[in-house]
Amino acid sequence: MTKKRILSGMRPTGKLHLGHLVGALDNWVKLQQECECFFMVADWHALMSEYSRPSDIQINILDNVADWISCGINSKKSTIFIQSEVKEHLELYMILSCLVPLGWLERCPTYKEQLKELDKKDINTYGFLGYPVLQAADILLYKADGVPVGEDQLPHLELTREIGRRFNHLYKDVFKDPQAILTQVPRLFGLDGRKMSKSYGNTLNLSDTEKSIREKVGMMFTDPKRIKFTDPGHPKECNVYSYYNVFSSSITDEVFNWCTNSTVGCTECKKRLADILLKKLFPIQEKREELLKEKSTIKKILKEGAEKASEVASSTLGEVKKAMGLYV
Ligand code: TRP
Ligand code: SF4
Repeated sequence: MTKKRILSGMRPTGKLHLGHLVGALDNWVKLQQECECFFMVADWHALMSEYSRPSDIQINILDNVADWISCGINSKKSTIFIQSEVKEHLELYMILSCLVPLGWLERCPTYKEQLKELDKKDINTYGFLGYPVLQAADILLYKADGVPVGEDQLPHLELTREIGRRFNHLYKDVFKDPQAILTQVPRLFGLDGRKMSKSYGNTLNLSDTEKSIREKVGMMFTDPKRIKFTDPGHPKECNVYSYYNVFSSSITDEVFNWCTNSTVGCTECKKRLADILLKKLFPIQEKREELLKEKSTIKKILKEGAEKASEVASSTLGEVKKAMGLYV
């Protein structure tokens, strides 16, 4: 039986944090055991929102890929590549943009939301409207069976399917219907209890130093009803407790007890959590440092990845052009 093919991507817009680890990378690592995986650095997508400071994208690419590999993405099992290194992405994006009705893009909930949220960044551009079309090109080029994404990306996947079907209907059956693979892990909240996001400044980064992790965990919001040590806490309302659930599920009963019986204070509870996080991060950071010392290793992986990705991408693009009767 042939393996299922998976494609996923991440935009290199900043340092990776624990949300990326539990929300995406851990899942990618699992998928690569059974599936044929393509993991892509979506640098063109990053440019669509960060065009005013494009140099940061370059810095983030190697930094993020170093994190991917350190977290267990294995270049012998999976194809790791940079989107802009495989020219077919833009070519298919152009072709698809001819057949995507404007209304589909204007109605896309992520588009409407992002325009509201990042109003300072001025992303009211022609390019940004086409964001989901490029994402559709990414996915359709590889004829991916599955696309692991967070819930926020579901509208893009739905659009991808609609675009693929529209192409197939207009010309010939070339594309396959990709399925979303929703990550099971509960969403990790940031230090302040809001969504973990660089733009809120509430992240715990994979590359943070021990000192910084300890300080940040020390600052985490806890149960507001537990003011004095002797006040019993309500773990279910405490963000720190939810971290124990994600990173150390075997001791959550213990944490529940020490919190509700007030045998351990919040400061100590957070210190113990920091210890657990650091233990998890230490091997990742060790590997990361080693990789970043010798950047040629990462560059080689990306080059070989782009070559492998190009083989699939150019074959699909050939089919696309043939189906449409374009010059091949
Ligand atoms: N839009 C995705 C995100 O922000 C990144 C992305 C680009 C992607 N191309 C993709 C994800 C293709 C899955 C498949 O998370
Ligand atoms: Fe939260 Fe721990 Fe304090 Fe309980 S003891 S409120 S779980 S930080």
